[in-house]
Amino acid sequence: MNIKTIKEHLNDVLRVTDFKNLGERKVGKVRDVYTKPDQITLISTDRHSSFDRIIAHIPFKGEILNQISLFWFNNTKDIIQNHVLNIPDQAILIAKNCKPLPIEAIVRGYITGVTSTSLWTHYQDGKRDFGNFVLPEGLKKNHKLDAPVFTPSTKFEEHDRTLSPDEIVAEGLMTRELIIEVEKVAKELFLRGQKIALERGLILIDTKYEFGLDENNKLILIDEIHTPDSSRYWKATSYQDRINKGEEPEYFDKEFLRMWFKDNCDPYTDETLPEAPADLIAELARRYIEIFEMLTGKTFKHDFTQTPIERVAASLSNL
Ligand SMILES: Nc1ncnc2c1ncn2[C@@H]1O[C@H](COP(=O)(O)OP(=O)(O)O)[C@@H](O)[C@H]1O
Ligand SMILES: [Mg+2]
Repeated sequence: MNIKTIKEHLNDVLRVTDFKNLGERKVGKVRDVYTKPDQITLISTDRHSSFDRIIAHIPFKGEILNQISLFWFNNTKDIIQNHVLNIPDQAILIAKNCKPLPIEAIVRGYITGVTSTSLWTHYQDGKRDFGNFVLPEGLKKNHKLDAPVFTPSTKFEEHDRTLSPDEIVAEGLMTRELIIEVEKVAKELFLRGQKIALERGLILIDTKYEFGLDENNKLILIDEIHTPDSSRYWKATSYQDRINKGEEPEYFDKEFLRMWFKDNCDPYTDETLPEAPADLIAELARRYIEIFEMLTGKTFKHDFTQTPIERVAASLSNL
């Protein structure tokens, strides 16, 4: 799809839903979640969040993220059972309602990052022993780790804390048996993700998984997997060249939209935000389409005959 087509559909976005028969509604940052005792309906909207608020709506984003996630659920189901039950629409996933574990299972394959919680920041500050793994001397920024590392963080607290599996057990958040199983599965998923991504010209840098327990206390992969919202990717083709030149790798990057808001308003305190320029919104949509097409090897197709909310409503009424 070209930029011109994208630009003609900037207002054709799925903003929010309010269905009455799907269960209790919770509007998340990006998804609308409807919960019934045995199943949840996750509707991926086109909301784009940053600074803890919605900053824009990106055409096709919801359906693309949902499709990417489904691609990965399909390609990992031999490793662990996932929550997928039914896909009535490109943007909708009906899933098994599970009891979410209280941690985010973060796995990192490269030493990178700029934030206070990033591996590179800790490493630069001299930290080597992370509890469940020790990093060797002499690592360089953006280099691949010999093996992926597991750096879980808390999930249901206002500010996420990174803590080691031992600390998770000590705080009574999970049993040792369970956290060991989660670490093993998360690393296996990540290695599979890296392998498939690389075959398609992408490097999976790091990611976050969520797990839950079903009614039999069986571990299930829930939420989303390896989407550009839960993971970071670099382009594999330019990686080595850029590293050799001392440059930063080429990201699948949303930062330019964030920067525009920082430059044009105070996104932390302003009550209402200005509308981002059409060119930037369209460019971000183009990037989502590009990463979808690279990963899945499919051409992205969108149903232009209905508005997204009409389509979603029709898909649900066919159930
Ligand atoms: N199978 C599942 N069972 C129960 N809860 C789930 C399941 N899959 C995902 N969730 C939860 O649904 C929510 C998805 O909403 P999301 O848009 O990611 O918003 P947020 O991340 O702000 O909570 C998350 O809280 C996630 O933990
Ligand atoms: Mg989430």
